[in-house]
Amino acid sequence: MRVLGIETSCDDTGVAVYDGDRGLLVHRLYSQIKIHEQYGGVVPELAARDHIRKLLPMVRAVMQEARTERGDVDGIAYTAGPGLVGALLVGAALGRSLAWSWDIPALGVHHMEGHLLAPMLESQPPKFPFIALLVSGGHTLLVDVDGLGQYRIMGESRDDAVGEAFDKAAKLLGLGYPGGPAIAAAAEQGDPQRFRFPRPMTDRPGLDFSFSGLKTFTRNTVLAHTLDRQMLADIAYAFQDAAVDTLVIKCRRALRQSSRERLVVAGGVGANQMLRQRLRHMVEPLGAHVFYPRPELCTDNAAMIAYVGYRRLLAGERDSLQIKVRARWSLATLKPVGGGE
Ligand code: KG4
Ligand code: ZN
Repeated sequence: MRVLGIETSCDDTGVAVYDGDRGLLVHRLYSQIKIHEQYGGVVPELAARDHIRKLLPMVRAVMQEARTERGDVDGIAYTAGPGLVGALLVGAALGRSLAWSWDIPALGVHHMEGHLLAPMLESQPPKFPFIALLVSGGHTLLVDVDGLGQYRIMGESRDDAVGEAFDKAAKLLGLGYPGGPAIAAAAEQGDPQRFRFPRPMTDRPGLDFSFSGLKTFTRNTVLAHTLDRQMLADIAYAFQDAAVDTLVIKCRRALRQSSRERLVVAGGVGANQMLRQRLRHMVEPLGAHVFYPRPELCTDNAAMIAYVGYRRLLAGERDSLQIKVRARWSLATLKPVGGGE
């Protein structure tokens, strides 16, 4: 079975072709960063309009590159949520309509299930069950994953997502968008001894997160000092140190509580090198292992959407002709997929 995948939930236009026998054939991404960076964040209306411009030509180019004719495509998967409604609608409308005109099934896919299963596209995928840390611009989730579609939320952010906190901290420091890579780069010159920022909600039991206090602490520190190059690097370091530590502490707790031996990390913040290094050190004494998708599959992409679509379409799931997207959509409401792995 060959599936065309479409991702337009935020500021990246993604198209991919996944084949059940041959794996991922091609995936391409067009980033809208240039459009949004002057505003310091994603402007939903501009995102939707650019998806309209880019998507159809990308579908044509990716199919050509994958040597895939329309008759070779057995199903179309598009991101149906969560995300920006206008942006989602572009992918959903095109995906649903193409499937109708080609007389093949279509399926709306959950964006976070895509992130969660992205490591399955690698040569040594994790086996079920595992704990997943999903860290992106919109989500901070710890999920207990028993099998495909069997997700129990163990903890989540009560306010800002960790990626959002990186983006806001970067803005306070006058760094570019997206903030994660900008903070990480600035922090390389930072003095680890200069500041120690709080690790929110780590002093009490539970696996929920909160990052808005860390943002306020960052703002107050910025306001209390003259922001020269070194000061900026020191604050970036302290912020990253605290955000990463908070994630690592909660992951350790989740592994211990569940006795799981595998941790999957996915979503844009999963590209952070300090996070990767500290997670590696944390899991070693527990005898556990960490799995990441390759960096390009950590951030938004259509390969993960095509893969989830493949697994669910193969199991017989189909959407009606209605074009439906959801801004909010809980992972916990998804249906288990037959056949386990
Ligand atoms: O998963 P993603 O590409 O898009 C969403 O679905 O949100 O994640 C984007 C987020 C942004 O907030 C960005 O600042 C953050 O991931 N990010 C990073 C790094 N690279 C991207 N955060 C920390 N360190 C990084 N190296
Ligand atoms: Zn994402």
